[in-house]
Amino acid sequence: MDIQVFQSEALAAQAAATLFAAQIISKPDSVLGLATGGTPLPCYGKLIEWHRMGGLDFAHAHSFNLDEYCGIAPDHPQSYHFYMEKHFFSQVNLPKANRHVPKGDLPREQSDAWQAECRAYDRAIAEAGGIDLQLLGIGGNGHIGFNEPAEAFTGDTHIVALASGTIEDNSRYFDSVEQVPTHAITLGIRSIFAARHIVLLATGEGKAQILQRLVQSEVDPHLPASILQIHPRVTVLADRAAARLLEG
Ligand code: F6R
Repeated sequence: MDIQVFQSEALAAQAAATLFAAQIISKPDSVLGLATGGTPLPCYGKLIEWHRMGGLDFAHAHSFNLDEYCGIAPDHPQSYHFYMEKHFFSQVNLPKANRHVPKGDLPREQSDAWQAECRAYDRAIAEAGGIDLQLLGIGGNGHIGFNEPAEAFTGDTHIVALASGTIEDNSRYFDSVEQVPTHAITLGIRSIFAARHIVLLATGEGKAQILQRLVQSEVDPHLPASILQIHPRVTVLADRAAARLLEG
């Protein structure tokens, strides 16, 4: 893992945006793996700014988001569909047909429909040529996407029960903890690992401990992000607050 530390959150986010811009410029039909949450917002902000200035054209790009809550409609303000529309898609020229976010609003009782959605999502990524550049944040428990700590690394896109810590962490975006969905659909570790280049953005004091654990840990499914240590091309971009506990 190449770890780069920046003076501020804005500079770390700008470095992530630079990797995405370079990817698009060098390969206009790139397949981008996108994330939601608080961390990527300034990175999306920079990409939008550069797009508006005229230098960044998403017209031929494809995107696949990591995850979506189960049981939530795309127009729900806390859905990742809504987030992506608000914070990125509505402000760049990435064609609608090329944007993909897993469906979260399938009927709860129809497990066949969920399985079909998972397989269709994996198929769509494969048909697009696989993910060129994957953006990741990291959960306080080391999750990437919604791959929670477990006995084994997960495979392809699947439905996951969210860890209680994740539900608590994400309740900051909802009116109450009871409103946070208990399940999500997420790319699996195998799907994330298949990306050609992965950029993990970690900013703020709240990510210091998990970043230290990530760097010091053995590769262990109880810390899902630890798999990134053996990926051939991972760039970790951290601000000083998140890198506070790293040596050197
Ligand atoms: C989001 C995702 C999650 C977040 C992680 C960190 O699509 O897959 O893994 O990246 O929970 O969230 P924030 O950035 O809100 O701290």
